[in-house]
Amino acid sequence: MQPIRRQLVAAGAASLLAPFLSGCAKTQPREEFKPVVGQAGKDVIWVPTPDAVVERMLDMAEVKRGERVVDLGSGDGKIAIAAAKRGARARGIEFNPDMVEVSKRNAKQAGVEVDFQQGDIFKADFTDADVVTLYLLPSLNEKLRPILLNMRPGTRVTSHQFNMGDWTPDRSEDVSGRTAHLWIVPAKLAGTWAVRVAGEPMQVQLQQQFQTLDGHAMLGGRRVPVEQAVVRGQSVRFAVPAGGAGAMRFEGTADASGRISGTVVAGGQSRPFTATRA
Ligand SMILES: C[S@@+](CC[C@H](N)C(=O)[O-])C[C@H]1O[C@@H](n2cnc3c(N)ncnc32)[C@H](O)[C@@H]1O
Repeated sequence: MQPIRRQLVAAGAASLLAPFLSGCAKTQPREEFKPVVGQAGKDVIWVPTPDAVVERMLDMAEVKRGERVVDLGSGDGKIAIAAAKRGARARGIEFNPDMVEVSKRNAKQAGVEVDFQQGDIFKADFTDADVVTLYLLPSLNEKLRPILLNMRPGTRVTSHQFNMGDWTPDRSEDVSGRTAHLWIVPAKLAGTWAVRVAGEPMQVQLQQQFQTLDGHAMLGGRRVPVEQAVVRGQSVRFAVPAGGAGAMRFEGTADASGRISGTVVAGGQSRPFTATRA
């Protein structure tokens, strides 16, 4: 072959191969994933919570700066991003890796830092959170319930729309036809308590169903019912009828060591009390 002809053949071959060669050398930018409302998810589809509901959920949970907020099934990240804008240490757990990328992009655009992780909410550990946000399904809320009830007393759980079986919310609010619910994880107070009021002992027996308490007290050898008993996070209140002197109204705080301390008001007098497990 003539030298000039050889060069032309080589040049032609190179130009034919060029698109393939350049395709190998440079990877084409991957097309950006565009989420579609109603797309399948592992246990529930993706539907974003409307902005007004997001803000109300965070208001009801009284999210404070520096608190840990986790959105379970974080979708495009909007709840966690709104929490981060309030100064919270926000985290989102989402099964769909494409949605995790979308939420990371959205956080960057919003100028906030959020820890978005790919994972299954039933396998991830989120028990260090101060606030848990949910928009899942009633059955999934109920499946999460034992984990939520074992979290630190006072942890706030807020759910868009769906409830939690027979654990009734501490508060529910309507937001333009949607509902936002709030639960406060109650301290575990069931059992027998030795209560001391100004040195005088009294035994109180409590049964507990979530945030509702029931029971009786042994007072001067008499068994009297415990009334108006409620636990809200670590705070507890109950009344013990004390005959002619009216009711003794107890208000206290349960600490991590299993002790309740507070004040009891009876006959117009306020005195300190402590209660320890008997
Ligand atoms: C109804 S959307 C709520 C999204 C977001 N929390 C909001 O309120 O805007 C539920 C999300 O949970 C995700 N999801 C479903 N099952 C999950 C699982 N087992 N673990 C983690 N994420 C899950 C879905 O992919 C979807 O993005």
